[in-house]
Amino acid sequence: MTASLEEKFRGRFGRAPAHVARAPGRIEFIGNHTDYNGGTVLGASIDRGVTVAVAPRDDGQWRFATEGRGGLVTLPATASPTPQSGANSWVNYPLGVIASLAAFGRQAPAGFDCLVLSDLPTGAGLSSSAALLLASALGMLARCGQDLPRAELVKLCRHAENHFVGVPCGILDQGVSGFGRKDHLVFIDCRGPTFATVPLPASARFWIFNTHTKHALVDGLYAARHRECMAAAAALGVKLLADASPAQVEAARATLAPEAYRRAKHIVEEIARVDATVVALQAGDLATVGRLLTASHRSSQHLFENSTPELDFLVDRLAASPHVHGARLSGGGFGGAVMALTTPEFGNAQAAAVTSAYAVQFGQSPEVLHTQTGDGAQLLQA
Ligand code: GLA
Repeated sequence: MTASLEEKFRGRFGRAPAHVARAPGRIEFIGNHTDYNGGTVLGASIDRGVTVAVAPRDDGQWRFATEGRGGLVTLPATASPTPQSGANSWVNYPLGVIASLAAFGRQAPAGFDCLVLSDLPTGAGLSSSAALLLASALGMLARCGQDLPRAELVKLCRHAENHFVGVPCGILDQGVSGFGRKDHLVFIDCRGPTFATVPLPASARFWIFNTHTKHALVDGLYAARHRECMAAAAALGVKLLADASPAQVEAARATLAPEAYRRAKHIVEEIARVDATVVALQAGDLATVGRLLTASHRSSQHLFENSTPELDFLVDRLAASPHVHGARLSGGGFGGAVMALTTPEFGNAQAAAVTSAYAVQFGQSPEVLHTQTGDGAQLLQA
């Protein structure tokens, strides 16, 4: 535990924490909206994340605090917590974990004080929500002296986000935060789901350009894409789009509504790109990986229609740079961030050239984050 975490916990709650867990944010490397369609996806856990520190209380209360988001949230300890709204809604992530424990055969924790700290920018498409879920789950389980196999832990966190927070997300964010490994990517076959790691060539570098734009209807648009994909699968006569091949989608084109065809084509071709990316990574061929990344963005832009002019501008600029292998929107889309995979020669000067061009076009600069891979969620103090 770092001195500053213990100090902050003491400052808030007057004693040291008993359990500390940390979980990283993630970059969606490639595989856009493939997860809930039963496909494959690659992600990277990064060196920034969320830390959750917990100490027991014996008065049957849960108290939650975080830096920069207002006051203490105090709730009665119960196996069926009530969702919070407004400024307190961030607490729905740890509460969702608690609410999901029963479905995974575990008990809800008794009273505790909980402090959440983060060095992960929110709204940057780096899934601070999955990091909060995973770190909370490890902290809560430690509070009750319970444990879960890693794949179950990841599924529990997705269950919490689907059923308590109410977002119909796939397993990507939680899987990468849970199974991440420094200098590796996490490969998920979302059907199982099964998890594996793929080594990342040593010269690979990541740059994130966060537009700080977010479509007003982003949650609704994500859910709409989810529905459109399920409808396209039904029209193709398969359970999930991952069950269809690119050839099948082409063969059915005349029978599909144009929108269903575009959504289905994106998903089946994106799954093929994920699989081709794994092969190229194994061959150490970052140039091919980069072409697949940029092709993924073009497919999001034109077929899945979840990009924005800001994201497209960044990808166009980045893809034209000699030190960039490829660039694409990372995460749900409709705003958020672009990820660039670069050579080590891409540096602050190259990033600044991109941000100044963006500022001329859009009147403000994107936030730049040069990040590295990091290890997955872990209990730092049991
Ligand atoms: C969000 C969701 C993920 C995934 C991506 C798009 O990050 O949380 O489950 O669907 O969007 O690939």
